[in-house]
Amino acid sequence: MSLNVPSSWQVSALSEHMGARISGVESAELLTMDTSTLEDLLARYQIVAFDDQTFDPQTLTQFASLLGSPAAYPFTEPLPDAPFVCEVRKEPDDDHNFGGAWHTDSSYLPRPPAYTLLQALDVPASGGDTLFANTYRAAESLSPKLREILSQLRVNNTSSLVHSNEGEFSDVGQHSNTKQFDAITTASHPVLRRHPITDQLALFVSTIHSASFEGMTRSESQPMIDYLQSVITAESNQARLAWRPGTLAIWDNRCLQHYALNDYGGHRRVMHRVIVQGEVPQ
Ligand code: SIN
Repeated sequence: MSLNVPSSWQVSALSEHMGARISGVESAELLTMDTSTLEDLLARYQIVAFDDQTFDPQTLTQFASLLGSPAAYPFTEPLPDAPFVCEVRKEPDDDHNFGGAWHTDSSYLPRPPAYTLLQALDVPASGGDTLFANTYRAAESLSPKLREILSQLRVNNTSSLVHSNEGEFSDVGQHSNTKQFDAITTASHPVLRRHPITDQLALFVSTIHSASFEGMTRSESQPMIDYLQSVITAESNQARLAWRPGTLAIWDNRCLQHYALNDYGGHRRVMHRVIVQGEVPQ
């Protein structure tokens, strides 16, 4: 896909197969972008990181609205004056971080977020990068027979594995801004979902949110869920984003997983996050 971006933008790749880091663009310019240009950029790169951004919570919400309706995230308190912006904060003494395991955002919701926007305010001098893994490439890498079998399956996702005290991965949900810890949300989605813009198939399963395949028990399902997770996060399938203060990343949850590394003990990391409502996965 060839893209027309202004000649003042400097675009560098995050990896051979996905991700773009863009500098030379001001927040005011982003706010007046056409939705289709932004969607095309995201369809081409899946994750786009704009450096040196100066959005406040209100203008960040306004920018997110170019891609759809901002949605409230049920498991953190929003900022008092910006109901769709939550603060992702890890203090020097905190052990846990937000998003510290491979996942796609809130896949236990009936309409999981299409996009996530994350703006870095305060980042450690080193560490605190976010890894991304491409779920289109994962789907393509499967044998045709396994793809055929998976195309007939749906997966039961639940917030309870992370966001409940007894959850197998409850440590992942225990960050400084957790709320409503025991509310459970579930949704069943196709294992292979078709992206509504690119029409490509992506593998939509994760170890921390997927409990079982529809019609199968957890113990029957778990080995295959874990196998598919390992296919998604194969190293050759990943890109890495190193944040700078002011970096604003947008990623497409319909074709990516991500993982916030927790390798900066003793340092602060503060981000603002907005999710954009997606469609029912097909
Ligand atoms: C998230 O999982 O949405 C947060 C990722 C990060 O803080 O890098």
